[in-house]
Amino acid sequence: MSFELPPLPFAYEALEPHISAETFRFHHDKHHAKYVHNLNDLLAKRKGETPTLEQLVCGPEGAVRRNAEQAWNHEFFFNGLSAKGGGDPPQPLADALSECFGDVKAFRDEFTKAALGHFGSGWAWLVQNQSGELEVMATHDEVNPMRRQCLPLLTCDVWEHAYYIDYRNDRGAYLDAFWKVVNWDALAQRLACGDSSDRRA
Ligand SMILES: [Fe+2]
Repeated sequence: MSFELPPLPFAYEALEPHISAETFRFHHDKHHAKYVHNLNDLLAKRKGETPTLEQLVCGPEGAVRRNAEQAWNHEFFFNGLSAKGGGDPPQPLADALSECFGDVKAFRDEFTKAALGHFGSGWAWLVQNQSGELEVMATHDEVNPMRRQCLPLLTCDVWEHAYYIDYRNDRGAYLDAFWKVVNWDALAQRLACGDSSDRRA
């Protein structure tokens, strides 16, 4: 079995000037592609298994899981961006965010703080935890919140390869850009469906 690299869900230049076509040509065509390629190489050595990507993400620790997580995370991240994104979240998402964080600005501030404060490579997330509450978290390297029985709703890639071409080491400027292209509709759909697998939609 093998996994295919999903196409970028928008044109390379669609999110300019906030995130450049050059960034996406490297981030999707090189970095994301490498994780899928590595995963397929590792799985080629196995026989008789047909796990889903989600099963691999929640599977035993090791290179297969790490590459499966990075493959999953990148597709989820790209699907969470849109040329029609940014601005304010629609209802009832705005109410759901306000209920858990106080208001939308407080959510945005907490998410941004988690992204900016994360040391090294990793991901900032909005998740729904096992109690059904919305929660912001950051994870190191490849770690996906599904490992912790949390439902991912939104993520921001804070590996330097996500922003170095456009913003060099200025992660704060990259977060400002992220909020201008965040795909609220994808987040709302994930929350409404209780399912992070928009990758198969
Ligand atoms: Fe990345």
